[in-house]
Amino acid sequence: MTRQRAVKRVQRSLPTTEGAGVHLYRAFGHSETSLLDPFLMLDHFRSSDPREYMDGFPMHPHRGIETVTYLLSGEIDHQDSIGNKGQIAAGDVQWMTAGRGIHHQEMPRRTDDPLHGFQLWVNLPRAHKMMSPRYRDIKGDQIPSAKPEDGVEVKVVAGTFDGVHGPVKDLVTRVEYFDVRLSADKDLTFPVRDGDSAFAYVFEGSGHFEEGGRHEVGDRELAIFSQGDEVWTKAGRRGCRFLFAHGEPLHEPIAWGGPIVMNSREELDLAFEELGRGTFIR
Ligand code: FE2
Repeated sequence: MTRQRAVKRVQRSLPTTEGAGVHLYRAFGHSETSLLDPFLMLDHFRSSDPREYMDGFPMHPHRGIETVTYLLSGEIDHQDSIGNKGQIAAGDVQWMTAGRGIHHQEMPRRTDDPLHGFQLWVNLPRAHKMMSPRYRDIKGDQIPSAKPEDGVEVKVVAGTFDGVHGPVKDLVTRVEYFDVRLSADKDLTFPVRDGDSAFAYVFEGSGHFEEGGRHEVGDRELAIFSQGDEVWTKAGRRGCRFLFAHGEPLHEPIAWGGPIVMNSREELDLAFEELGRGTFIR
């Protein structure tokens, strides 16, 4: 028998600033690591005022994690210390595995469109924290959609839904990542492996995420799910669009220092020592 997951917690993303003063909304972070392992953080940037984002995220290091940037609108120029350079445009995903370390910058461009997108941080397991950095740059038209019925669309970035496989494969940390659009009153059930951590983050309209549940999850609200093997959702009267992700927890200690996430204080200290000495990039 399948067991539907309940909504364990609902919280609204909080306005904050990051990088050189980019205004964004943080859906979860430090306080939720035990609930959402292997996910560390989800930032939502949505602004039509270039003053709120043009200063961007100048050169900064990462180690021990993956950063997954998904842009709905606007453009971001990306450049790193090991010679990679490119652009993230509307619809694109950049899945970056920092591994043992990179320095990079992520600079939004001024366009006629608002800047709207997400950055999700996925933790790497101890055995892979010091792996070679790698990128998967996925253009929007390479991301397939499952359309099981009218008014239901599931863009599959990573993982599988309804026989449609996402383009990001061979991940070190097993996660599945979807962008879901439901027309008014449509419902949908996702199979989710029991044991996985799972969340939904609404950014258009509203929806219910538990049959019989009272709480309607609205714009900029995050639903964190309990255990079970499926997630049920139903859009409200204006439809609903949300990110949905689940992943296998690592169950490892977390030593988190800004853009660097290791397993122990010693590893974190070493990383910052290396930054100071200029030996961080190997
Ligand atoms: Fe970054």
